[in-house]
Amino acid sequence: MEPLATQQLHDLVRDAERAISEAPDINALEALRVRYLGKKGVLTDQLKRIGSLAADQRPAFGQAVNIAKDAVAQSIEARRDALHKAAMQQQLVRDHLDVTLPGRGAGIGGLHPITRTLERLTDIFLRMGFEVADGPEIEDDFHNFEALNIPPDHPARAMHDTFYVERGGLLRTHTSPVQIRYMLENPPPFRVIAPGRVYRCDSDMTHTPMFHQIEGLAVAEKVSFADLKGVLIHFLQQFFETSLEVRLRPSYFPFTEPSAEVDISCVFCEGNGCRVCKQSGWLEVLGCGMVHPRVFQHAGVDPERYSGYAFGLGVERMGMLRYGVDDIRLYFDNDLRFLEQF
Ligand code: DAH
Repeated sequence: MEPLATQQLHDLVRDAERAISEAPDINALEALRVRYLGKKGVLTDQLKRIGSLAADQRPAFGQAVNIAKDAVAQSIEARRDALHKAAMQQQLVRDHLDVTLPGRGAGIGGLHPITRTLERLTDIFLRMGFEVADGPEIEDDFHNFEALNIPPDHPARAMHDTFYVERGGLLRTHTSPVQIRYMLENPPPFRVIAPGRVYRCDSDMTHTPMFHQIEGLAVAEKVSFADLKGVLIHFLQQFFETSLEVRLRPSYFPFTEPSAEVDISCVFCEGNGCRVCKQSGWLEVLGCGMVHPRVFQHAGVDPERYSGYAFGLGVERMGMLRYGVDDIRLYFDNDLRFLEQF
């Protein structure tokens, strides 16, 4: 290309500036820079033409081309800045983060229905003046059976489906051994409950190998069966939150005499008869009785001076009746659809 006249240089710069200001992105802008200012660029080429001019025209021409180069370079810088800012702005809009929005939340856990039932049951007894006692889950034959008037050949042992562990230990089959432990340590009078886990080798719709019981024991001078009855009726009406009917049926436990089983009028059909109460209108909820003198003797309490009542109830069963759970295994499947209903 021939050296350009001043006017032509002006036009060239004007065209370049328009193209630069319209460059849609950094790549297009870079192409323009190469085209005008690159090693083989139009303006670079003009500088190379300087030799073909007469000596007196060279300074003015050189100056004019350099001014043109600076102008183009400046426009390119300005456009580059503008494109950068636009890109940044776009990214800000795209990655918009509203820090004032509430978080997704961690999801608050809840107490297991068994725990809730245990707490509710315990609470009612605490309000009636009972204290909480406990004992080990790994028991020995003496506390779990012998001291409760269940000698080795007693048929009641067959009902307990005991898990035996090493060195003659066993997993307690009921919370009744806590009665013995408590009486051996504490002189009457007292009223205690002993909530806790118990174990039996058994599993179906209404039995799991581990379940929970609450044992009750009250010992003092002149404790009567009427006291037992009053406490149980009050407790059951509190727990089920209705003034349901309570019925005591004569029964047998080795550690109480007399013994009774306690029924409530069915909470599902109000005594009219349904599937749950097997059309009887009654639901069995716990066992109880007056502490057997032989149990007192094993536990170091004078049966001539003291009398007492005891009772035992199943926590899972109470929860099932209160909340309408029809399969005990639901408690232990850990299915959130079940657990979240409580
Ligand atoms: N220990 C009995 C059981 O597991 C329940 C029981 C019945 C406890 C009568 C008592 C009672 O304290 O007096 O089946």
